[in-house]
Amino acid sequence: MNDKKKTMLSGIQPSGHLCIGNYLGAIKNWVRLQNDYDGIFIVVDLHAITVRQKPAELRKRCLSFAAQYLACGIDPNESIIFIQSHVPAHAELAWTLNTLAHMGELSRMTQYKDKIKKHQANINVGLFAYPVLMASDILLYQSDLVPVGEDQKQHLELSRELAERFNNAYSPTFKVPEAFIMKQSAGARIRSLQDPTKKMSKSDENPNNYIALLDDPDTILKKFKRAVTDSETEIKYDENRHGVANLLTLYSSLTDSSLSDAEQHFQGIGYAQLKKQVADVTIETLVPIQKRYDELMSEKTELEKILKNGAEEARYRARKTLSKVYRKIGLVGGF
Ligand code: TRP
Repeated sequence: MNDKKKTMLSGIQPSGHLCIGNYLGAIKNWVRLQNDYDGIFIVVDLHAITVRQKPAELRKRCLSFAAQYLACGIDPNESIIFIQSHVPAHAELAWTLNTLAHMGELSRMTQYKDKIKKHQANINVGLFAYPVLMASDILLYQSDLVPVGEDQKQHLELSRELAERFNNAYSPTFKVPEAFIMKQSAGARIRSLQDPTKKMSKSDENPNNYIALLDDPDTILKKFKRAVTDSETEIKYDENRHGVANLLTLYSSLTDSSLSDAEQHFQGIGYAQLKKQVADVTIETLVPIQKRYDELMSEKTELEKILKNGAEEARYRARKTLSKVYRKIGLVGGF
């Protein structure tokens, strides 16, 4: 871990099932960039509990998500990978930042507004303060770059704002992070298979809407066969023909080819073939990932060791920032 490299940090909530959208939109890019950056990849379990979780499932899912990051190619010798709750400083800095964040700015968060509509029965303070915890994740490690999807742009803006607010109120302490929005070309935006006007979501209640990284080949083929397209016949990339555009995007991302090459490839071919071939390249990508995943999960010593080392390194780095913060705001240290 070279000090001169810039720090790149990102995380995914352990809810639902990691899907091909997460892979192509995020994890594949983390893997691609991890040699050039000092990478920090977190399973953000403290974020996940802002929505009620089943304890036994959450426990399993955290390990499973970490194993899937690794199986996708996150290299623990290059990057730090850990579970958020193993590093107490996340919650500690979040509390401190809560005293800097304004009620007004948090009430304006689009995701918060969407979430309180969805979770009427459990509009808890954590849901409200969620973006502050995310700022804590980012600022603790003096991150330079935060690869996120479009939907997290507002949260990242808040992280920048809180960093600046603290730096101005006390003295320069936090690096002000840059968003690294995954665009179509770098990180594909993958859409739901049954309702391609929506983004593919790992927490969708209908599993036919997503391809989970752990779906077996038969399931993958079945899901693609059922994917919604349209009543036209020609395979062309047209933003407005969401279903076909989505399949072409999947094909081009999975084969690392351009959209126009993908279009070319499918010229004169029907939708059935398109679906079959997208399924084939998906299976080709996922089978080795699943194989590695099974190894990691069947004998957990290696996985546990990686997560233990990751947490240790993260705790060390996070503590440095937190101590500075505590000192600057006037908390008595040294005990
Ligand atoms: N809020 C992010 C999401 O829902 C997940 C997240 C939590 C995150 N902490 C982060 C992403 C820090 C990037 C950096 O997608």
